[in-house]
Amino acid sequence: MTARKIIIDTDPGQDDAVAILLALASPEDLDVLGLTCVAGNVPLDLTTRNARIVCELAGKPDTRVFAGCDAPLQRKLITAEHVHGKTGLDGPVLPEPTMPLQDQHAVDFIIDTLRSEPEGTITLCPLGPLTNIATALQRAPDIGARVQEIVLMGGAYFEVGNITPTAEFNIYVDPEAADIVFKSGIAITVLPLDVTHQALVTSARNDAFRALGTKVGTAVAQMTDFFERFDIEKYGSQGAPLHDPCVTAYLIAPHLFSGRFINVEIETQSPLTLGMTVADWWRVTDRKPNATFIREIDADHFFALLTERLARL
Ligand code: RIB
Ligand code: CA
Repeated sequence: MTARKIIIDTDPGQDDAVAILLALASPEDLDVLGLTCVAGNVPLDLTTRNARIVCELAGKPDTRVFAGCDAPLQRKLITAEHVHGKTGLDGPVLPEPTMPLQDQHAVDFIIDTLRSEPEGTITLCPLGPLTNIATALQRAPDIGARVQEIVLMGGAYFEVGNITPTAEFNIYVDPEAADIVFKSGIAITVLPLDVTHQALVTSARNDAFRALGTKVGTAVAQMTDFFERFDIEKYGSQGAPLHDPCVTAYLIAPHLFSGRFINVEIETQSPLTLGMTVADWWRVTDRKPNATFIREIDADHFFALLTERLARL
């Protein structure tokens, strides 16, 4: 089977970093055409730095990394240094990147790739705010029909919010962008907090990363050691939730996940619930289903897959 062509849209972020490492370690499954960076966890200059650090950590300095939007469509950027540290990749001490950033803007790369590749062969994998994706759809409405699928980390229903009482960070930072994406008519699969909060890096799982005895294994263990503080303090959880790697794992092993095809709409008006993903899980409305909303994961097999693939780098 040929590898699935993907563009990873990302705001690294320790969990983005693990998602990117998993993708780069899985060439038989995923053909990473490029990483498009967006402002989110930290500002754009740091997300482009961090994306390249991760590519070099993976031993893949030829990966094309593009800088995208440095602010949401209509709002002031909100970042998450309180979770990811001031660099966005706190935890391991890794060398500054030497690989180049591509000259082309990330949005133009997304548009050009979708227009030049055969229709229905490109999957977009947003791991951060949806600003780049929405901007591409606004600038080139023709590309929507050409996207195979959008598989994104974002939103929440039963878990509700992590940045406000009702909103998940990626959606909250740019709710207008999320609204454009969820109304685009493109096939969407959502990996929300409802499933990512089940993918917790317990100490045994962290030990398995460290036991790889590799640069990558050690760095991932150090990233999750740092990244888990926020969730342990807030939720009392048993470790860091690996939000973004759920996207990569879903693409590699969808059988580890399950969910429902339902209607999901984005709150863009109410100051109280701004950025909420209003998921009609119980189908109590006649709103048209527009997204596969994932709620379950086989966490043990997810971590087994992740650890086995990281061992390759
Ligand atoms: O809410 C979790 C999401 O926000 C993850 O993608 C994390 O990296 C941050 O971007
Ligand atoms: Ca992210």
